[in-house]
Amino acid sequence: MNFKRNISIIGGAGHVGFPLGLVLSSKGFKVSLIDKDKTNIKKINNGQIPFLEENSEKLLNSMIRKKRIHATDQLNEILKSKYIVVCIGTPITTQLNPNLKTFINFFHQLKKFLKKNQIVIIRSSIYPGICDKIYKIIKKKCKNLSYCPERIVQGKLILELPDLPQLVSGKSKKAILESGKLFKKICKKIIYTKVIEAELVKLFSNAYRYINFAISNQFYMICQNQNLNFSKIRNIMREGYMRNADIPISGFTAGPCLLKDTMQLSSFYSHKFLLGHSAMHINEGIPKFIINKLENKFNLKKKTVGVLGLTFKAETDDIRDSLSIKLLKLLRLRRVKTLQSDEFYKSKKNISKKDLVEKSDIIILATPHKAYKKLKIRKNKTLVDIWGLIDS
Ligand SMILES: NC(=O)c1ccc[n+]([C@@H]2O[C@H](COP(=O)([O-])OP(=O)(O)OC[C@H]3O[C@@H](n4cnc5c(N)ncnc54)[C@H](O)[C@@H]3O)[C@@H](O)[C@H]2O)c1
Repeated sequence: MNFKRNISIIGGAGHVGFPLGLVLSSKGFKVSLIDKDKTNIKKINNGQIPFLEENSEKLLNSMIRKKRIHATDQLNEILKSKYIVVCIGTPITTQLNPNLKTFINFFHQLKKFLKKNQIVIIRSSIYPGICDKIYKIIKKKCKNLSYCPERIVQGKLILELPDLPQLVSGKSKKAILESGKLFKKICKKIIYTKVIEAELVKLFSNAYRYINFAISNQFYMICQNQNLNFSKIRNIMREGYMRNADIPISGFTAGPCLLKDTMQLSSFYSHKFLLGHSAMHINEGIPKFIINKLENKFNLKKKTVGVLGLTFKAETDDIRDSLSIKLLKLLRLRRVKTLQSDEFYKSKKNISKKDLVEKSDIIILATPHKAYKKLKIRKNKTLVDIWGLIDS
């Protein structure tokens, strides 16, 4: 056993931990993926990927053959590792405050197994100031705590990680030096920052994206109220006019990160983050807005509404915090007959996209999977295409 080449990843069967483990093992490290999700542990050890992640299946099987990666639910596995990378979730409560209890409690558990010369790296997106709190919990056993946030787009970690600058911050010189050394093996560029700077860079980045999407979603609502097509107007805005080049398309802005991190930031700013709150009202309000528009036109109880796409974004199988699911729930609460379909997320309730288009009076394109682009939809059907994917 080579302690210095061993890495434990906690939350190792999750969307951040699993692909990170693959990348590190491909550089010669021996990786233990520690997780409490026994189903995903079993899958990983059998060479099956627990969710869609580009380029991961072949790599997983190759790393298993070379005995460089394995998954377990035993936290004491960290005793064998120099590096302990923490990638567990950081959810918010129903009152939109960070749910810090579980995250902090985890470190009380971890402390029992920690040794002086280990390096603990927090990779989850955290509420600013949390690193200081964690440091106070573990410092008697180990002072080497660093914060190196993940900034990839979900599903593309293996592709993106080598090219993204990695932020490295820490509570001790050794933590910073060792974490920098580790990430230099898998990333081209390291940016050293203070812990609070890294915490804010991560939250500002996600809040910035979330607000940007809300701008387009608000424009979409304005256009809908005038029976105008936002996609067309957006195209005209951008044509030969570079200052508008970055305006996003409208759509269901959802998923486990953007809203959550915007609310973590708001909580940090004593809930005075007005832009963040407005963005949340707009983005989370889109399903209800669409239903209200349809209700103004039709008696929805006499219609069948098909929801095309259930995942929170295109080409993934992840429905966490998906607005398609919220839309379906709102429709069902109103006792509207619904049908659902998805290209990647499997459910017994799903039907094929062709059947959905055939059997529905109203089709809501909720996730812009590429497979929907060329769908033929007859003129007697109503299509709601907020993404502008097949509008024309
Ligand atoms: N998904 C992304 O694209 C992304 C990108 C950047 C940052 N992040 C951040 O990274 C963190 C993890 O996100 P994720 O999407 O990977 O979440 P996830 O739910 O996919 O993975 C978290 C994993 O941690 C495991 N876990 C939770 N508590 C545990 C415990 N006490 N012991 C062992 N395992 C435990 C869960 O079973 C799960 O497998 C969050 O803070 C998130 O905001 C996510």
